[in-house]
Amino acid sequence: MTTAAQRFNPAGSGFDVERVRADFPILATEVHGKPLVYLDNAATSQKPLAVIDAIMRYYQGTNANVHRGVHYLSEAATEDYEAARQTAAQFIHGPHLHEIIFVRGTTEGINLVAQTFGRSQIGAGDEILITAMEHHSNIVPWQILCDEKGAKLRVAPINDNGELLLDEFAKLLGPKTKLAAVTHVSNALGTITPLKRMIELAHAQGVPVLVDGAQAVPHLKVDVQALDCDFYTFSGHKVYGPTGIGVLWGKTELLESMPPYQAGGDMIRSVTFDKTTYNKLPYKFEAGTPDIAGVIGLGAALKYVTGLGIDNIAAHEHDVLEYGTKKLLAIPDVRIIGTAEDKAGVISFVMENAHPHDIGTILDQEGIAIRTGHHCSQPVMDRFGVPATARASLAVYNTRSEMDALARGIEKVREILG
Ligand SMILES: Cc1ncc(COP(=O)(O)O)c(C=O)c1O
Repeated sequence: MTTAAQRFNPAGSGFDVERVRADFPILATEVHGKPLVYLDNAATSQKPLAVIDAIMRYYQGTNANVHRGVHYLSEAATEDYEAARQTAAQFIHGPHLHEIIFVRGTTEGINLVAQTFGRSQIGAGDEILITAMEHHSNIVPWQILCDEKGAKLRVAPINDNGELLLDEFAKLLGPKTKLAAVTHVSNALGTITPLKRMIELAHAQGVPVLVDGAQAVPHLKVDVQALDCDFYTFSGHKVYGPTGIGVLWGKTELLESMPPYQAGGDMIRSVTFDKTTYNKLPYKFEAGTPDIAGVIGLGAALKYVTGLGIDNIAAHEHDVLEYGTKKLLAIPDVRIIGTAEDKAGVISFVMENAHPHDIGTILDQEGIAIRTGHHCSQPVMDRFGVPATARASLAVYNTRSEMDALARGIEKVREILG
């Protein structure tokens, strides 16, 4: 495997994407006799050898339960598990290790906050503010909570480019607002939201902010202290880590004030039939045997990203995004949905005379993997008056020549369906 220093060429020619690609064994796959062009990274990213090896090392060398044994393997596993917590804290610049809670992913992070903070702090007549570009996992948990409590979900609108209308967002914040739950980057549009300003506006009204960082963490530098958000959550599998693991970060005073999410082993301090007291943070929110291999794999993924340098990744992806956008815009019949000034990683598009599902099927025959459908963002589809889009989404290993392949594939779609 190459080192991070070798991958970034200080001579000025930039990022050596071919060396990065060599870290991802799956990228050598052929699909229907063609080289794989993997452009479904917003759904899940591929995994580098560093992650695959870390998981294998755990199962081959240190497999044991954590926090429970005095024996060698348990201590080794616990050490690696807790080291990953430290890596995660550093990755998002979290000030305290005990504020990093391992969850299954972004979905569970949001549900945890809805079921604990939400259920204990939100009541009849209160309001929760979201935006019109949220993923279903940042809509439905709040709808369920609102139904249960008699609270109201408010939605800040977006413009035709897919950008948040900040003034409208500000107007919707008021004394009844008990939480703003907002995305950092839209999975369907690629829009990067003006998060810092949104948080300032919410805090000016005393409203805490939860950030869905699922699509931000792979592409942008995230600093929870600079943002001053109250909760930040992301999924490991979108940032080159394993599925089934993610992080919820929250400010200590909020996490302390929240009741437990799930109950069982590890989250207790003492149990009698009369009374149970809870463990300290973060263990209060980590009931049961965790996904130890997943946590270790996530730690390896975050280290891998740090080794490449998130700013280098962002610069490379921005170049491929701009190049790909220009290529697609030059094709008659293609309309890009999501044209925000500030975008990361996503080109969502529709074509005259071609259903997105058919676009995806024809591109698959060319070895090109894209996503088609509503991308778990049906309200975004409604906003743009389309049932679905075709979505190419980028990662660090994608190249300009893959954008050329995508454009050629789309020309083929036009030949077949046009
Ligand atoms: C913006 C956004 N939020 C939340 C999620 C849910 O993530 P997960 O399925 O990993 O929990 C996704 C997944 O696509 C997403 O793109």
